[in-house]
Amino acid sequence: TFLSGSGLVRTLWFIVITFVLSDNQILSTKPGREESLWCTVRNNSRAEELRWYQGDGTVNLKDGNKMNTTNICILPVSKTDNGVSFTCKLVRNESIQISVTLDVQFPPLLTGEDPPPVEEKNDVKLTCHVNSNPQAEMAWYKDNSPLTLKRGRYQIHHTSEVFQLTIKKVEKSDNGTYTCEAKSVLGEMRKEFHLTVEDRKPAFPLEAIIAAIVVVLLTIIFGIVARREKIFKVIKTSVNQKT
Ligand SMILES: *[C@@H]1O[C@H](CO)[C@@H](O)[C@H](O)[C@H]1NC(C)=O
Ligand SMILES: *[C@@H]1O[C@H](CO)[C@@H](O)[C@H](O)[C@H]1NC(C)=O
Ligand SMILES: *[C@@H]1O[C@H](CO)[C@@H](O)[C@H](O)[C@H]1NC(C)=O
Ligand SMILES: *[C@@H]1O[C@H](CO)[C@@H](O)[C@H](O)[C@H]1NC(C)=O
Repeated sequence: TFLSGSGLVRTLWFIVITFVLSDNQILSTKPGREESLWCTVRNNSRAEELRWYQGDGTVNLKDGNKMNTTNICILPVSKTDNGVSFTCKLVRNESIQISVTLDVQFPPLLTGEDPPPVEEKNDVKLTCHVNSNPQAEMAWYKDNSPLTLKRGRYQIHHTSEVFQLTIKKVEKSDNGTYTCEAKSVLGEMRKEFHLTVEDRKPAFPLEAIIAAIVVVLLTIIFGIVARREKIFKVIKTSVNQKT
């Protein structure tokens, strides 16, 4: 008894294509499509029950969809299904199994927000969030010309999810429009970020103000202490005068 590789049927606009599955097959698809996965027992001498797993969790199957052959539908396929694997196992002996992993392909999608206005000499980060399969080629532009990574003031942090530009010690000339660009075989997208560089505000003289407050407080306290002594003296002298 073994699970046939010829289990996968794909439905798309009424066209039915049958794939031959070897173990752990990759199924390339797109968001919005409908995919149907089939699993069939071949050369079995008796009725065999089948079970589907999505990742580690079991998939609930209707009663008529368990014996000898079974199918599950993914309707519609979404971006979040990318990388999800479906495994069909023989209930009697789960080591007999067949898997398919979804490879959901879609053009790049960029998102992100303008940074708040930044003062000269401070650092600023422009974070471009990328969602793309296959991975896109990324680039930054400033006022529509490619960014030259000059004098180490620019740093780029690139993962599968973000493409982040850090500008160290911004200058007035860094003010402008920055464009994050993603290109893949499925398409391209650009996202603009506006960076406003403000004049450096004069340093807030916090220490001077604290010092002034301390001086004023001390003056008041000494004033009170001095007066108390005077008050006592007055009382003492008046008492002395009475005697
Ligand atoms: C399964 O049965 C088919 C015929 O139905 C035969 O051609 C094939 O060799 C068999 N495979 C195994 C592994 O027994
Ligand atoms: C499953 O296959 C076995 C062996 O070929 C057969 O006896 C049985 O009737 C089948 N059961 C169903 C529900 O198709
Ligand atoms: C399950 O199937 C595997 C592969 O065919 C086999 O080696 C193993 O002995 C079977 N285990 C049981 C408990 O039948
Ligand atoms: C700074 O950049 C912003 C955004 O691109 C732009 O609107 C503004 O006119 C620029 N300011 C100066 C002084 O260049």
